[in-house]
Amino acid sequence: MNIPEISAAEAASFIQDGEWIGVGGFGPAGSPKVITPAIAARARQLHEQGLPFKVNVVTGASIGATTDGELSLADAIDRRLPFSVNADLRRAFNSGRVRYTDLNLSDNATFLRQGLTGPVDWGIIEACDVQEVRGRIRIYLTAGIGIAPTICHMARKGVFIEINTWHSTRLIGMHDIYEIEAPWYRSPIRITQPVEMIGTPYIEVDPERIKGYVMTHCPDESRPMTPATEVTQRIGQHVADFLVDNIREGYINPRRLILQSGVGSGANAVLGALGECSEVPDFNIYTEVLQEEPLRLIREGRVVSASTGALTISPEHLQALYRDMAEFRGRLLLRPSEISNCPEIIARLGICSLNTAIEVDIYGHVNSTKILGTKMMNGVGGSCDFTCNAMLATFTCGSTTKDGKISSIVPFCSHVDHTEHYVDAVATEYGVADLRGKCAMDKARALVAIAHPDYRPLLNDYLRLAERYGGHTHHVLNAAFAMHDTYRRKGDMRLTDWSEYIKE
Ligand code: COA
Repeated sequence: MNIPEISAAEAASFIQDGEWIGVGGFGPAGSPKVITPAIAARARQLHEQGLPFKVNVVTGASIGATTDGELSLADAIDRRLPFSVNADLRRAFNSGRVRYTDLNLSDNATFLRQGLTGPVDWGIIEACDVQEVRGRIRIYLTAGIGIAPTICHMARKGVFIEINTWHSTRLIGMHDIYEIEAPWYRSPIRITQPVEMIGTPYIEVDPERIKGYVMTHCPDESRPMTPATEVTQRIGQHVADFLVDNIREGYINPRRLILQSGVGSGANAVLGALGECSEVPDFNIYTEVLQEEPLRLIREGRVVSASTGALTISPEHLQALYRDMAEFRGRLLLRPSEISNCPEIIARLGICSLNTAIEVDIYGHVNSTKILGTKMMNGVGGSCDFTCNAMLATFTCGSTTKDGKISSIVPFCSHVDHTEHYVDAVATEYGVADLRGKCAMDKARALVAIAHPDYRPLLNDYLRLAERYGGHTHHVLNAAFAMHDTYRRKGDMRLTDWSEYIKE
């Protein structure tokens, strides 16, 4: 193969201050592991010499700690998009040290192609194998894809490949690589069932595009999930009952139950609980991240087939999957984020989406991203892609957080990512509020009914006081954030005193 083998430090030495790097992978799955730390080391060295060095980083979604963590600790990132879950980087976003763009994951590759997110100078991707066939290079990716195909075709100065022998070459054949055409001439993307293959199992590029490859042997960086709690199990049971009711009523075809499930421990636990519920028929998954519970359900046959952008599972589970790959072939496919999150496909497949909310307001608006309206948590990720296009869009959340001091149901969301028009249902451990077809005030009553009992009187009092102001959605504007304000001032939303805000 006519591509030079280089070291991670050599790869990093090509990268200059102010350049854009596009990084493959999705979440910690399939993200590069040695070149980005080498860029962080280069940044530290240059900073010690008093020289400026920051790069702009675009990824498929979040990325492993060796990219976001190391680079942010080295103060080596200027701009970052579209999503991150790294705590160090989160601090940098919230202190204004890194300019963060929170973007729908389905839009990311299109934005790149349109030049809206900066010209990608370098691509860094991870592969389990690279082959030269008839003068072209075929890159076989690892456990996550993200925007790797787009980066490989767009990086102006070249692509670095980390060939990671920790991943098994049994992954070959598990990827479905397909790039979407420009909007005006786009052909239909003909996926009519989750594991129908429409692309190639590799990315193909000219050898000149590859600047060099680095050999590595590093495990993926997925963190183990927090185990299910009583709250997540109860939420899971309510969602299961809700889906069963929808099947009984004829809203969902039992032979075509296709679920998407969001990120985080809560989402993982809810899917696990659904799998345990014998009344929920065997189902399919079309999603962006596959966590540990759904993988177990594939093994058990509860999940018939699954399409995902990434396998965000612990290294032990990933190695076990590689060992038993024959079991998964034909039932599991990995896809680029513009396909895993593609609105057209989500709508066509009639997906039931399950995402996690930070807070929900009494009229059904959902905040997925901003703690107390100001501090970025992670980003919207693919939750908008799925919520806006799903046949049945459900959000789940525990009714309270921080030892009961914060209610997840509030009069007004301190930030809105998903408006009432897309949110069909909300589940807490106290039940499901089915919002479909309800007027604003009926939505409010349904949502207050699933709030924590400690907060129901408070929310009912707010509704009663707001009723006097009339309108379609009843609000007292100077009190709409009183619960948030009380938490900020007194450390507990339960101490909200409406008379401090509303003069009767
Ligand atoms: N006010 C203040 N803090 C809140 C809060 C609220 N209303 N709701 C949650 N939090 C805090 C929790 O206390 C916890 O804090 P800690 O880290 O200090 O313990 C933190 O936010 C995370 O909450 P947790 O319940 O552990 O969340 P999770 O792991 O289930 O993730 C989201 C929940 C919303 C953060 C996560 O799902 C997310 O980033 N979603 C947006 C992207 C998305 O949906 N992607 C999937 C699309 S396919």
